[in-house]
Amino acid sequence: MPDDASFATPVAVSAALADMNDEQRKAWRTAAAPGRASVAARNLDIAFPYGWYPALLSDELKVGAVKPLRYFATDLVVWRGEDGAVRMLDAYCRHLGAHMGHGGRVAGNELECPFHAWRYDGAGVVHDIAYAEAIPARLRTPCERQWPVTEANRMIWFWYHPLGAAPEWDVEHFAEAVDPDWGDYQIFEWTVYGSLQNMAENAVDVAHFKFVHGTATFPTSDMIWDGPRRTSIIDAGLDTPMGRVEARITASQFGPGQSATRFTGVADTLLLAAVTPVEKDEVRVRFCFTQPKTQSTDTGALFAAGFVREVCRQLDQDKVIWDHQRYLTKPIICDGDGPILRFRQWYGQFYAEGTKAAA
Ligand code: FES
Ligand SMILES: [Fe+2]
Repeated sequence: MPDDASFATPVAVSAALADMNDEQRKAWRTAAAPGRASVAARNLDIAFPYGWYPALLSDELKVGAVKPLRYFATDLVVWRGEDGAVRMLDAYCRHLGAHMGHGGRVAGNELECPFHAWRYDGAGVVHDIAYAEAIPARLRTPCERQWPVTEANRMIWFWYHPLGAAPEWDVEHFAEAVDPDWGDYQIFEWTVYGSLQNMAENAVDVAHFKFVHGTATFPTSDMIWDGPRRTSIIDAGLDTPMGRVEARITASQFGPGQSATRFTGVADTLLLAAVTPVEKDEVRVRFCFTQPKTQSTDTGALFAAGFVREVCRQLDQDKVIWDHQRYLTKPIICDGDGPILRFRQWYGQFYAEGTKAAA
């Protein structure tokens, strides 16, 4: 793989990736993007939008496990207590600043710091210091910043709000994600060196589908804007060995961090996109696909596999643009661009008042 692979055009990268083996493709998808301009030069020093975001897959954190995480330019620690519940705190111990994700351990349902064994509950209150007679008063109050956590769809989710406001909605549950008749997630991972909002906007940027993804036409879809939810529905007739079949793609975004796409008709597939900012110019992306287990034996499997391949191919191509794209506060839009301005209006609701919102 050439060092400057990130400079390839979207079309070229698509061809290059098709020739790579799985290991090479994986490396390209998460490798640093050399030559990208600074956060300031790309106007990416804007607030993170608030909402629920995926942290990990549920089975990546077993009972009694502790892990370091970094999201929203913040070092975090996450653990699963003996009661099975997941808790998350800022990583640095309130005592002398040890990073509790490195060497911390679970004691009952609490997190024990590796440095002097102070024990924290999920709100950051210290209940036990083995060698002290009294617990300092400030430790009896919760940490200023709270990270509400929940689990849904075999994923661990956390609520991010720059001002610490409580969750405004619940994480949506998808029946297929926990249905024993549906298979394990097929997971594909990328690191995108760009802005979360630019990435989300891609779905309504009608014109790029032709020039970046090589589609024959500009796709049209029905768009529903409903509070924190946005849904687009694409109906398409597909020619199959069984004749013409009506297929439907329903893509929904619920807040800036929850994204699900259902592909039905010829074959069934649910794609849950775990897209979470790490830094102002870095986003962790994991696409998790699940399909009915029975589908692996019929012709629907071919279509389902084709859908997965196409979605991943498009993300590879988009990444080439996103890794170097600037965030424009006042873009110049022409007719034929699709509902980009409507999208920005909708997305703007997720920037907390008083933060440097860009929408
Ligand atoms: S730094 Fe954590 S207990 Fe001392
Ligand atoms: Fe795209």
